Amino acid sequence: MSKPIQPVNYSLEKIFSGAQDFLPLLGTDYVEFYVGNAKQAAHFYKTAFGFQSHAYRGLETGAKDAVSYVLTQDKIKIMLTTPLNSKSPINNHIVKHGDGVKIVALWVEDATKSYEETTKRGAKSYMKPTVEKDEFGEVVRSGIYTYGETVHMFIERKNYKGAFLPGFQKWESDYNPPTAGLKYIDHMVGNVGWNQMNKWVKFYEDVMGFVNFLSFDDKQIHTEYSALMSKVMSNGNGRIKFPINEPAEGKKRSQIEEYLDFYEGPGVQHIAMATDDIIKTVAQLKANGIEFLSTPPEEYYRAVPGRLEEHSHELKEDIEKLKSLGIMIDADEEGYLLQIFTKPLEDRPTLFFEIIQRMGARGFGAGNFKALFESIEREQAKRGTL
Ligand code: FE2
Repeated sequence: MSKPIQPVNYSLEKIFSGAQDFLPLLGTDYVEFYVGNAKQAAHFYKTAFGFQSHAYRGLETGAKDAVSYVLTQDKIKIMLTTPLNSKSPINNHIVKHGDGVKIVALWVEDATKSYEETTKRGAKSYMKPTVEKDEFGEVVRSGIYTYGETVHMFIERKNYKGAFLPGFQKWESDYNPPTAGLKYIDHMVGNVGWNQMNKWVKFYEDVMGFVNFLSFDDKQIHTEYSALMSKVMSNGNGRIKFPINEPAEGKKRSQIEEYLDFYEGPGVQHIAMATDDIIKTVAQLKANGIEFLSTPPEEYYRAVPGRLEEHSHELKEDIEKLKSLGIMIDADEEGYLLQIFTKPLEDRPTLFFEIIQRMGARGFGAGNFKALFESIEREQAKRGTL
């Protein structure tokens, strides 16, 4: 591999000066997955990824139509939800998309104002501001649609002291596997259809006040066979980063088209979770049975010192160790980063996780795109979907 690709339009200053403050976001609150069997999925995310039991809602707590398990790991909260009967609208989502992300919830000071400001700017309503109460206080939630059937919920929890949300009880489990060192959600990527990327860039700019601080075109992101385009959207304080991908013309079918075919529409492609010690985290996840995309070829690792340029002396990790685990390395002006991608987490080739360790770099591994996509294409070829 040659030098890292220089992303166009890279400007952190632009984030802070260009973003608007009508929608101040404190961070990601939780990510809710609609799944076919939440009990089994919860066991998987605990056992394999080191998530901890946190909160529960189901028949035992008085819920009649759906059950939800909330799992945490440091700042990350995921919720797994399954309908309890055939009448729940959640079924339609699962029939169409398979298991996947329904809600990316954002933590806000004022969920009513967040709803008003975004719907006023054109957002489609999912849920009007709703106050939910229990003995621990109250939470205000509201929601708007983003791409496909994916939703952003705004969560105002400043007057709440309970474990999670009203209606949930603390989930005390006797089964508590060790954490895997996952700390927070670094970014979440959405796949949208042909020629839809700029529409959703505009949505995040106009409706959410985000700015586009990085762009990659199909000349930068391509292999011999396929191509895609990507623009990274960030909110004003830089805590929320949503890259948006769309497919581009290539000789064969790109991974984005494969996703759109199997998810049957736009949706969340991957969630990147940060760790402070990627070698330890990935070794543990592998021991737990998580499958990652195949290791880049030998020449990729031989080229690492050259690709890191002035950052090569900063590399604290042993390249042989990174190679043995298949961890990829990239650098930008500010430092380097280490990353690796799981295979899809469900039978449909849709959602996957990225594990990332940032050592100063603020990019997304553009220098790894080619090696990564070639690895994905090897998997696509096995599935007959390339
Ligand atoms: Fe990523």
